[in-house]
Amino acid sequence: MGLDLRRFAVRTVYRLLLNYIDKNVYSPLTRLSSRRIQRSDMSRISKIKGFFDLFPPESTVYVFMEETARQMFARYAYQEIKIPILEQTELFARSIGLETDVVQKEMYTFQDRKGRSLTMRPEATAGVIRAYIDSPASGSGNVSRYFTAGPMFRYERPQKGRARQFHQVNVEMLGEDSAFADGEVLSMLWSYLQNLGLHKLNMQINSLGCAKCRPKFDAGLRKFLAGLDQNSLCTDCQRRAMSNPMRVLDCKSQGCREVASKAPLILDSLCTECRVHFRHVLEILENFNIDYELNPYLVRGLDYYQRTTFEVISADIGAQSAVAGGGRYDGLVRDLGGPDVPGIGFACGMERLALLLQNIQERPLDFYLAVLHQDAMEKAMILTQRLRGKGFHGEMGFQVKSIKSQLRSANKKNVKTCLLIGLDELKGGQVQVKDMSTGVQRAVSQEDVEQALGLNLKSRAENFVHH
Ligand code: HAM
Repeated sequence: MGLDLRRFAVRTVYRLLLNYIDKNVYSPLTRLSSRRIQRSDMSRISKIKGFFDLFPPESTVYVFMEETARQMFARYAYQEIKIPILEQTELFARSIGLETDVVQKEMYTFQDRKGRSLTMRPEATAGVIRAYIDSPASGSGNVSRYFTAGPMFRYERPQKGRARQFHQVNVEMLGEDSAFADGEVLSMLWSYLQNLGLHKLNMQINSLGCAKCRPKFDAGLRKFLAGLDQNSLCTDCQRRAMSNPMRVLDCKSQGCREVASKAPLILDSLCTECRVHFRHVLEILENFNIDYELNPYLVRGLDYYQRTTFEVISADIGAQSAVAGGGRYDGLVRDLGGPDVPGIGFACGMERLALLLQNIQERPLDFYLAVLHQDAMEKAMILTQRLRGKGFHGEMGFQVKSIKSQLRSANKKNVKTCLLIGLDELKGGQVQVKDMSTGVQRAVSQEDVEQALGLNLKSRAENFVHH
């Protein structure tokens, strides 16, 4: 009897639990499915505003940017890492700052099935630091260099160079606060952009001071702003004047710009250590012939920066002109619960770089293998596989069609060489090799095809051509 009662009680609790889950967790989905989703509905589903699909040739440009980064940053001892797209909301609120536009207005935040607040990363730095703190590297006392690339999410008004899902190439160096570290990061960014073929860019740089000199400057700026007619500031800056006064300095609205032009500047308030550090960074840039411009109004939209901050600007892509931005964030690792490790990094906006890199194309395929008789299909497949194994890029046609139509397909694919196998070639152990640019065709034995294609194999990063 006692056992039955216990079983009844367990079953009742279990049923109540299922009811609760169904009502609170699954019900929004269930409601959606019963009202709106019907399997018989064949209408097309459109993509979300501000989100984009990337196909070649656009996607090729993204591969080019990532591959160039991968190759170049490895020379500076950077290691590529992968971190989650989804993080606890608190991570971004505590690092980027509660008062920033990103946290206030732009994050994709939602509750998971257990009611935890999660956010699609609006940038990578916070996630990299969270991962670094979780890793043994943070306690090693060594310099750590990380590179990561991938999608970020910000609910901004979409326009040219601004998307809601966009992509960044992101770099962080942790464990060194000397100006040499800043110099290395900045010169690597500059070389990267040059390696992409971008030479008409402008680097703007500023120092935001440190925990020692910044509070004094903030207090002075707050006092200056409080003494103004509040209507001279935009509504956002009326709020910022109290909560985050430095942001007023890089507001784009006309009234705020006029105010900023009369405001005190952080560069005049740097402590001796920050001044010496900044001067040294600028000297390194000069030594590397990096054409920088001092911009005392450059504040950046994320609260974690200290000392060196910078942006790279292009005059050729319209209003959203910053193709890269970054800076030093000493104190952030500690503020997120880790050891007191300094850091500096940057992120390049791939959508904006892509606007400047429209003429990148992937190297044409090395070969297209046209099969002219069904019996030759097997042999053709073995040969194709062998060539790919040797590093050649190519494809074979799966349908037996006329020579004319196969050559037309090969031409459309912009291949250098068309290989042809029919019954005669099958019997004779040969392949016809046709150079698509000259039209010259010759028969070679199947063993010699690699040689006929040319042994000039390139690494993947050399796989792109500027047009
Ligand atoms: P950020 O300036 O917010 O910095 O973003 C870096 C770059 O991402 C921008 O310069 C821009 O090219 C691109 N970007 C930002 N928002 C969008 C958007 N909505 N659409 C297209 N591109 C966009 C950061 O994210 C910092 N985490 C950089 C950093 C790394 N600082 C230190 N380490």
